[in-house]
Amino acid sequence: MNILILGSGGREHTIAWKIAQSAKCKHLFVAPGNSGTSEIATNVPLSVTDFGAIKDVVLKNDIKMVIVGPEDPLVLGVHDFFLADAQLKNVAVIGPQKAAAELEGSKEFAKKFLFRHNIPTAAYQSFDATTVEAGCDFLETLKPPYVLKADGLAAGKGVLILKDLEEAKTELKAMLVDAKFGTASTKVVIEEFLDGIELSCFVLTDGKNYKILPTAKDYKRIGEGDTGLNTGGMGAISPVPFADNEFMSKIKERVVIPTINGLQKDNLPYKGFVFIGLIKVGNDPFVIEYNVRLGDPETEVVLPRLKNDLVEVFQAVASQTLNDITIDIDDRAATTVMLVSGGYPEAYEKGKEITGLENIEGSLVFHAGANLKEGKVVTSGGRVMAVTSFGKTYQEAIKKSYQNIDKLHFDKMNYRKDIGFDL
Ligand code: AMP
Ligand code: GLY
Repeated sequence: MNILILGSGGREHTIAWKIAQSAKCKHLFVAPGNSGTSEIATNVPLSVTDFGAIKDVVLKNDIKMVIVGPEDPLVLGVHDFFLADAQLKNVAVIGPQKAAAELEGSKEFAKKFLFRHNIPTAAYQSFDATTVEAGCDFLETLKPPYVLKADGLAAGKGVLILKDLEEAKTELKAMLVDAKFGTASTKVVIEEFLDGIELSCFVLTDGKNYKILPTAKDYKRIGEGDTGLNTGGMGAISPVPFADNEFMSKIKERVVIPTINGLQKDNLPYKGFVFIGLIKVGNDPFVIEYNVRLGDPETEVVLPRLKNDLVEVFQAVASQTLNDITIDIDDRAATTVMLVSGGYPEAYEKGKEITGLENIEGSLVFHAGANLKEGKVVTSGGRVMAVTSFGKTYQEAIKKSYQNIDKLHFDKMNYRKDIGFDL
């Protein structure tokens, strides 16, 4: 069958790489894609939130399955758009419907869901412009640091963690009254701070059945030792070494099962990935957030470890027969290191030629902010490419990634040299 992937990052190149290996995939399209996807699929220039343009591509190319990479089209209801259209309703869409995508689209919605289904998470209250003073009073009752979250989508920038009470009050007002994050901060969730180490758990569900995929840990800060500004993610490791069997069974019993049951009880139609951001406090898992898609760069370590035919798995999601599938995971560790443009996550230059790709041995290179220009691969974004490697241990895998990174070059290339330092 013909398949379309929506998105243009390292996550989408990895999904494309995996799908392209399936005998069930005839023609693969990625919209808009990047230089990496152009080698294995047909790139189609369009905006992932232009549903009319997506419809045209699907009909013109006889596409039978659409895999949605990023959250925006899901939160805007791309799956519902397909179901409501007579010509599109039989196309399999991998990604939840709008009502369920609110788990990522609204922090308050996610918190209410977590409390309703008794899933461990930080205590919270939410506020809007009419209750700013109550918000300040609530901050007074908490111990520092203070966690403020813009309710809506803010491209990963909407969470502030502040040590000082007065600064927290000032920021709360900036978010609610001065629209610091635009409409995303019309509401703000204030949360109890949880102290622990973070990890992510990926679950695939067809709305009835579920499969737990490998865990991963990403490194969000730009600087070594987890310092400096937040980024989309500078590297990742899978599996997470401290997530042993005992901890995994707590995640399954206390988080995954109540989440999947909660989706059904609340009538939230879900065929896709649930990305559960967790924090280990003492020996117990707490949910920090839900995302309704795969993570980036977590995908670059999770999917390479999956041995199954991904098209077969997605077909089972579409037909709600995921229970008939046995998920087969590579025992080896996988690591990825993200190469970024100098200056990122602040201002950076684009259009730098990337050289050395032909010299890579024993690693996978997934393109992110990279594109073809006059036959050359050049940078086109902040996060440029992810270098993924396998090893018996994550230490062995990470060494291989760094050896291959030494062969790659572009002007002002930057990357973290300490991925896995805290494990
Ligand atoms: P989120 O967008 O909700 O994932 O939050 C972004 C980051 O803020 C998380 O990855 C955590 O590092 C941190 N964070 C969020 N909520 C909390 C919390 N309640 N306690 C401690 N850290 C948090
Ligand atoms: N790496 C974090 C995310 O994809 O949201």
